[in-house]
Amino acid sequence: MSTIVCVSASGSPGVTTTALGMALTWSRDVLLADCDRDPSQAIQAGYLRGMDNGGRGLAALARLHRENRALAPDLWRHTVPLVQYGDLQRRFLPGFSQPATVRLFDTVWAELADAFTALDEQGVDVIVDAGRVGRDGLPLPLMAQADAVCFLTRTSLRALAATRLYLPLVAEQLERLPGSRALGLVLVDPNQPYAGGEIAAQFGTPCWAEVERNEKLAAVLSDGAPEPKRFTESSLMNQLRAAGLRLRERITNAAELERAITARTPGPARIPEHV
Ligand SMILES: Nc1ncnc2c1ncn2[C@@H]1O[C@H](COP(=O)(O)OP(=O)(O)OP(=O)(O)O)[C@@H](O)[C@H]1O
Ligand SMILES: [Mg+2]
Repeated sequence: MSTIVCVSASGSPGVTTTALGMALTWSRDVLLADCDRDPSQAIQAGYLRGMDNGGRGLAALARLHRENRALAPDLWRHTVPLVQYGDLQRRFLPGFSQPATVRLFDTVWAELADAFTALDEQGVDVIVDAGRVGRDGLPLPLMAQADAVCFLTRTSLRALAATRLYLPLVAEQLERLPGSRALGLVLVDPNQPYAGGEIAAQFGTPCWAEVERNEKLAAVLSDGAPEPKRFTESSLMNQLRAAGLRLRERITNAAELERAITARTPGPARIPEHV
């Protein structure tokens, strides 16, 4: 059970598209949370084709917080379905509806992040679209609850130059937090021209996944373009599915390793009772 935060430096590499594609192919119940601090309503207007969210989303959660009401019990009620089919729950938490409300959220991030963890405990994974890192970095409470942070970038020199500016900021933020969280790169449109191995070595950060460039299929996710036949089995969606499975495996292995280390670490020495 995990919280995965997806971010980018700049230049719209495809964070929203990739996070949505992963949510649609995720192998367990999942919530996709739009926590982009540059609000764009991209998913409501795009994939959900202007669906009315009935006032649900971050602004409504901020109101609950102001009224001193707990967010966790109400979080699910503030989400909307991403799909109408399938056995798994795939829900969406709408993001900021007005740019001015972002600032008011500074004091809410910690409680929202706790509410995500509470969902984790109920067997729902959370994928956070955190948008661009920004000059002040990401909201620390969100990072504190993350099991993994995916830094998305394209592979051109221009994209990598921006990554060089913002990836260290995220790494520093993670280092400041207690405990450990994995940070990895997700490359959209790999080998254009730089390859994953070279980029990983340059940045000292592992490359977790590569997502091919396919404008037509990406537009289904980003703009609500009509789905072509066998869209869910397309190579783009298969890559996003595989990326999600690898991420989950990585998080589970890391958690098991941490448990094993904790079990092996002797507790503080105890003074014998007869002394
Ligand atoms: N794998 C892909 N192949 C081709 N085009 C893609 C791919 N992923 C995303 N795109 C396209 O890139 C554009 C930007 O995508 P998206 O909105 O997901 O980026 P973003 O990183 O979330 O941007 P922003 O920082 O502005 O929120 C869209 O037109 C989308 O269709
Ligand atoms: Mg986006």
